[in-house]
Amino acid sequence: MSTPNNNTKFTRLWPTLFMAVTLPGHEAANSILSSLVMQRNAEQDQMTTNYINQNFFDSDHPAINWLLQCCHQAIAEYAQESGMAEMPEVSIQAWPNVNFRGDYHNLHNHPHSWLSGTYYLNVPDQEDAETFRSDLNPGAISFFDPRGAVNMSAIRNDGQFDPEYRRVPKAGELFLWPAFLYHLVHPNLVDIPRLSISFNVVVKSKARYL
Ligand SMILES: [Fe+2]
Repeated sequence: MSTPNNNTKFTRLWPTLFMAVTLPGHEAANSILSSLVMQRNAEQDQMTTNYINQNFFDSDHPAINWLLQCCHQAIAEYAQESGMAEMPEVSIQAWPNVNFRGDYHNLHNHPHSWLSGTYYLNVPDQEDAETFRSDLNPGAISFFDPRGAVNMSAIRNDGQFDPEYRRVPKAGELFLWPAFLYHLVHPNLVDIPRLSISFNVVVKSKARYL
């Protein structure tokens, strides 16, 4: 290893901040929220795909209000970690996702939002899934490097090598990421539904913050 020059300064440019938090009290809340989501899914045609025309948080239900408050707390933590001096005023629009066996979400991002997030109610174990290929990742979510094809010239361990960040969420986890970040949800390959609540965070009074 070379000896560092004491004039050397490193700056990491254009960070993409991803946050994960396990919400305290999620066990009790998740059974109530899961019932609510399944009930709404039975009442509506295309609930999951019709995400833009609903707000799951428009409700007085205590469990939904609990989740909304947790989202606000998470967004405040995210803003602080981003180095923002002031927490912007935001509105949050949410929708439930019910992925039955074979369901998935294709590659997408969430336009006209600052942040996007998902809270996980139930992520069924995929151990018993019938898969015939080793490259499948049922139940996982993948995020992709927003900087185009930087991995094309990457060297192993340089931090740019793998353009995909993939993880299998656990029930009770809340993920938060910049809305521009492309992601996809891999198919659920078991008979137990994969349940989550996604949301977009939109900055109000944008002129004040830009
Ligand atoms: Fe999404």
